[in-house]
Amino acid sequence: MAKQKKPSLNLAEAASAIMDPVGGIELDTDGLRHRGTRSAMAEQKTILLVISGGIAAYKALDLVRRLRERGFAVKAVMTKAAEAFVTPLSVGAITGGRVHTDLLSREDEADIGHIRLARGADLVVIAPATADLLARMAGGHADDLATAVLLATNAPVLAAPAMNPAMWAHPATRRNVAQLAKDGVRFVGRNAGERAESGEAGPGRMAEPLEIVAAVEAILSPAARPLSGRHVVVTSGPTHEPIDPVRYIANRSSGKQGHAIAAAAAAAGARVTLVSGPVSVPDPAGVTVVHVETAREMLAAVAAALPADVAIMAAAVADWRAAEEQASKIKKQPSGAVPPLALVENPDILATVGPDPARRPALGVGFAAETANLLKNAETKLAAKGADWILANDVSPATGVMGGDDNTIHLVSRAGVEDWPTMTKQAVAERLVARIAATLAER
Ligand SMILES: Cc1cc2nc3c(=O)[nH]c(=O)nc-3n(C[C@H](O)[C@H](O)[C@H](O)COP(=O)(O)O)c2cc1C
Repeated sequence: MAKQKKPSLNLAEAASAIMDPVGGIELDTDGLRHRGTRSAMAEQKTILLVISGGIAAYKALDLVRRLRERGFAVKAVMTKAAEAFVTPLSVGAITGGRVHTDLLSREDEADIGHIRLARGADLVVIAPATADLLARMAGGHADDLATAVLLATNAPVLAAPAMNPAMWAHPATRRNVAQLAKDGVRFVGRNAGERAESGEAGPGRMAEPLEIVAAVEAILSPAARPLSGRHVVVTSGPTHEPIDPVRYIANRSSGKQGHAIAAAAAAAGARVTLVSGPVSVPDPAGVTVVHVETAREMLAAVAAALPADVAIMAAAVADWRAAEEQASKIKKQPSGAVPPLALVENPDILATVGPDPARRPALGVGFAAETANLLKNAETKLAAKGADWILANDVSPATGVMGGDDNTIHLVSRAGVEDWPTMTKQAVAERLVARIAATLAER
């Protein structure tokens, strides 16, 4: 019987095979044949992928494959630490080109290679982005090829952080991420859940390759980016106003509407800062999220996020807070006496952003959540707060709007009232964003 010929692997296939034991990657032997899903926007677009030294570096291989399937050209830069996690050989096999690792390379730098790399990209993607690389970027370092390229590039930068939850939560990382967001770096993911190291759960896991691809496409698609170059600040969710260390005043806002608006604005190409009260909905991809608890924290975060082209105040900010927050838990009295709860008014975020000409966004949008006299209250709010539009919605329990997936909006402006049909909160968000883009374009 004739001996069966062993199938031979080319270098790319060998690299795919190497990926398998690392886990979690769907193997696909013709993954580099750019099947089916090539998107029009990917034509001629070059992604410069910076891989830094985190455990999630193995996912960069799958990310390259997904990007190339869609027709993007991918060039790769690896940090020294990244080389300890995946080899330049496997990355190069999957990008189909050489991998750049060295700033002080005589061969590369004969024609100032790091500047050429930085300028030749339509988008720089950092995946994974280590705490260390984010820190060096925030500090403006250029002491290796990755940071030199990141400092020299004019292209938008998308970072997919991946790190231990404690590293992510550390004030230094929080500061660095906030600084980078201010510098225009966009972020995708950092999912809650299991990390590749055993026993490390919590926020810190890198976004999945397909989430990163979605963020790449959202950034690069010109037709889908009518808010490109705009900064949009959105508030969302309730605020919690502490009474004592264990009790607080809250409301039933879920954050679904505000988060959907932030996601729709990001998908439209805007740089979005979402200031969110405590919610259980996940952070939208491609959005810088500032988590706050109280109305005063929300006001400070909005003030720090300005200037913006558009401010959309969708949060259900508590009107009042406890006049005094007790340092220890208020105890029940044997006498049955009920403790007095004095309230004071919270700052009005919309009214603060609205009238100040120096800080005023080109378009200020507020929400009026009412259970009676909906339009009358919305018109009063429009006049009182210097907003351009108020989106009025009836939040009476019978409507199911608070916490639900649908909403019925009445857009109140100086031109009159426009009644929108009942639709999903996502559809409301998309319609609002389209309306904002058209209004800004007219101006
Ligand atoms: C096994 C191992 C896993 C690591 N995983 C991460 C990680 O997921 N995220 C991170 O920020 N740092 C991680 N580190 C630490 C980085 O490798 C280290 O900070 C390094 O200096 C990063 O260099 P770079 O930012 O130039 O790539 C890890 C280190 C080791 C030894």
